[in-house]
Amino acid sequence: MNVLILGSGGREHTLAYKIAQSPSCKSLYVAPGNAGTAQCSINLELDILNFQEIALAVKKHQIDMLIVGPEAPLVEGIKDYFDDRSEFSNLKIVGPSKYGALLEGSKKRAKEFMKAHNVPTAAYQSFDKDSLEAGKVFLTTMQPPYVLKADGLAGGKGVLILNSLKEAQDELENMLTNNKFGKASEKVVIEEFLKGIELSVFVLTDGKHYLTLPNAKDYKRIGEGDTGLNTGGMGAISPVPFADEAFMKKVDEEVVKPSIDGLYKENINYIGFLFIGLMKVGDKPFVVEYNVRLGDPETEVVIPRIKNDLLDLLSKTCEGSISEIELEIDPKYASTVMLVSGGYPESYEKGKVITGLENIKNTDDLFICHAGTKNKNDQVITNGGRVLAVTAFDDNFHDALQTAYKNVENINFDKKYFRRDLGQDLV
Ligand code: AMP
Ligand code: GLY
Repeated sequence: MNVLILGSGGREHTLAYKIAQSPSCKSLYVAPGNAGTAQCSINLELDILNFQEIALAVKKHQIDMLIVGPEAPLVEGIKDYFDDRSEFSNLKIVGPSKYGALLEGSKKRAKEFMKAHNVPTAAYQSFDKDSLEAGKVFLTTMQPPYVLKADGLAGGKGVLILNSLKEAQDELENMLTNNKFGKASEKVVIEEFLKGIELSVFVLTDGKHYLTLPNAKDYKRIGEGDTGLNTGGMGAISPVPFADEAFMKKVDEEVVKPSIDGLYKENINYIGFLFIGLMKVGDKPFVVEYNVRLGDPETEVVIPRIKNDLLDLLSKTCEGSISEIELEIDPKYASTVMLVSGGYPESYEKGKVITGLENIKNTDDLFICHAGTKNKNDQVITNGGRVLAVTAFDDNFHDALQTAYKNVENINFDKKYFRRDLGQDLV
């Protein structure tokens, strides 16, 4: 099969690394990719939101499977674009329809879906410009901290958690009337604050049946002790030590199954990954958010633990026969440490030369995953906020982390930063 993966981060490098190992993979392309994907596939200079350009590449390279890494093309309707054109009727697409992708593209839609299908989630109401005053009154009925969510995609920045009522009311007004998050905050969901510990569950579905993939915990904040600004993710661990069998059974029965059944009942064209962000409150799971794609850096610890041939797994999913598959999961723990550019998640410089990569080899227990990198004049340089994810595998997450940290020390670039406290909250 010829495969095209859209995206350029650690998620896409991990997928490419794994798919390149499949005997049924003939040619593998990543667009636009990074210096890591260039080692295991062919990078194509494509704009992932220009569907016409992608369609031309699909034809030219006789692509059999298109895997959509990030959410934006899905929310923009890439699946529908190809489904609507008969010349692509044989193209397998991993990713939901535009309507399916609204589970990530609209917080309001996601909450309505959860309510309709009895998926446990925080109590909420949604507001727009016309109901601003009602929103302010609604806030007075809530307990602090107040959780305000911009309805649309806001690059991971659209959630505000505020301690004072006045601040919450002002921010609500800012979001609804002053376009704080642009179009994304034309609607705002206000919801109850959930006090607990977060984890992420990944599901692969053919729209009717599903497989629950390994779970993971990511570290979102830039600073140690989980402080400072939110990032795309500074590291991840899989499996999550506190998600024991009894809890995961509950997650399956109360969250995953009703979610997939809901997609099926609503006749939603959903083939692909569903990433469920959960809060464990006591011993009960509550859904914080749905994402319609894999997470990054969670992919770096989830996908390598799947022993099955990933291309075969995705092919069967696209054919609607996921139920034929028996997942084989590596019992080893995986830990990844993200190396970022100094200044991230605010402004940072690109183009720094990365040294030390040439001395490290990927093995069964170590994977140097590229995120924001590119090749220039025979050197690898930084090309993003999140630069590399150093992933290691071992019998426990502590040893896996130690190996990752040891290798982190051998990779350098100007203003390199990483969190040294990953996993300490789990001891
Ligand atoms: P979201 O984009 O919905 O995942 O929200 C971003 C982050 O805000 C989550 O990962 C949580 O850490 C936090 N968060 C969102 N909703 C809630 C909630 N209802 N209670 C507590 N924390 C929340
Ligand atoms: N690491 C969180 C995300 O991918 O959304």
